[in-house]
Amino acid sequence: MGLPAVLRRRWSSRYILCSAAGLYIVICFLFDMPLLSSKLPNYTGKYDVGTIDIEAPCARRNVSDLVFTNTGKPAFELETVLFSLYYPAVDKVRSQKSHLWVPKPLSLTAEGYARFAKINNFLTNSVFTVALWTLVGSTKIPAQVDVPLHGTVKTYQDYQKEHPSDDDDGLPRFPVIVFSHGMASSRTSYTQYCGELASRGFIVAAIEHRDGSGPGSVIMSTDGSTTNRFLARPSELQPEPAMEDYKATGLAFRQAEIEETVRVLREINEGSGKAVYTANSRKEGVDLAEWRGRLMMDRMVLAGHSYGATGALRALKGAPSAERPFVGGIILDPGKSSGPLNDDINVPTMIIHSSSWSKKLTIFHGQPHFAVVKAVAEKILNERHKFAWFMTAKGTTHPSVTDAPLIEPMLLSWTTGATINVREGVLQYVKATQDFMRFLADGQRQGVLKEEVTHPEYDHDIRDDARRAAMNKEIEKYWQIHVAPSTACPYPGLCGIVPD
Ligand SMILES: *[C@@H]1O[C@H](CO)[C@@H](O)[C@H](O)[C@H]1NC(C)=O
Repeated sequence: MGLPAVLRRRWSSRYILCSAAGLYIVICFLFDMPLLSSKLPNYTGKYDVGTIDIEAPCARRNVSDLVFTNTGKPAFELETVLFSLYYPAVDKVRSQKSHLWVPKPLSLTAEGYARFAKINNFLTNSVFTVALWTLVGSTKIPAQVDVPLHGTVKTYQDYQKEHPSDDDDGLPRFPVIVFSHGMASSRTSYTQYCGELASRGFIVAAIEHRDGSGPGSVIMSTDGSTTNRFLARPSELQPEPAMEDYKATGLAFRQAEIEETVRVLREINEGSGKAVYTANSRKEGVDLAEWRGRLMMDRMVLAGHSYGATGALRALKGAPSAERPFVGGIILDPGKSSGPLNDDINVPTMIIHSSSWSKKLTIFHGQPHFAVVKAVAEKILNERHKFAWFMTAKGTTHPSVTDAPLIEPMLLSWTTGATINVREGVLQYVKATQDFMRFLADGQRQGVLKEEVTHPEYDHDIRDDARRAAMNKEIEKYWQIHVAPSTACPYPGLCGIVPD
């Protein structure tokens, strides 16, 4: 009753392995899936999502005198600012084009990572390029490129038919979030967070910083010439800066890029979208003229992750101001080694730590990092009398808010120990952000922001049984709240006063 000889031979383990691999490749091909990684999931909010890359020329200036040792060229010369816009798009319009998760040229990013690993040579760069291409070379961002903004004039009549009560006094306007990435990241490192927010009615501008902290970025001038900007270590600069000064310079450069992004957004809102499109070296934004008056410039928030969170805290100093009209801050895992944290802040601020960031005791400027971050939130709340929160997203690790765990879920949970479902991880950050934006809109506290302090220190639960039983199970599952305005008396000594 054995298998016929021809079949028996074919069922060797090697044959099975090869067939399985072949089948897998065919499935990936059929379903348009990247070979060794997961596809980025579609966004879950009520709007379709559009995306536009904008690279706008800036008033050219040197933020510092430092030059690259090998070329003598300035290392912190601001020439253009690059950001990706994610926005609520008109319903059901599909674009021909899509944006790749690793922008072209892929070899640039590969070389950038090799430089981070300090093994940058022709051979490793080639190996990294092939690896990156195999892993994520075909991963696309599931947003429609350069489609019209939701409710633009062109589609306004259709829009009114569908949403008769949505906007009584003109076209819908959307709050704005400017997002600053962390080290070794780029404008496409947080697309899920940004895209989910866009699908919930926010316009997000994800900056790509050229301060030498990213793996690699192409600076594209309006005349078409390009310069590759890689990671620049202090030792590669002249005169070699001390680490503190190097980071301070990087953050000053990032702040200049944040201000330039705000300037471009303001120009778009004031009706100069056509000029922004014409000057855009990335050649996107054909409909930007229609964006006039559609950005809520008075409800603009600055958000950042890691080094970007440290930079956001810095840029919130003096806000809201003309250059930095931010009315709130969203601070995700402020850097542990990216310089001192600014606590001179006069706007509502929400600080979220990943579990791994809260759990690990790190000494930061002579104090535990957790205590330093908590003191920032307490100062904003108790001294500046602006609403401030400090919370830990349970089960998350430092990269949980980035796209990395979605694309390589297995790899990331092995290497970083995240226990939260990867999509749930990003969504918790999205929901908290949405709650914070809602609070800025009308003072309503909802979701996690409705709760009182649960854990003044990490893992130190102060709730009694009654409170624990009464608490929303979803909030309890995902959050520890370290600093929050008391609902009864937000500012000790100033009971009953609600912030303006
Ligand atoms: C920036 O500095 C370099 C010299 O390091 C100089 O050649 C360049 O003109 C400066 N750029 C501006 C806009 O001043």
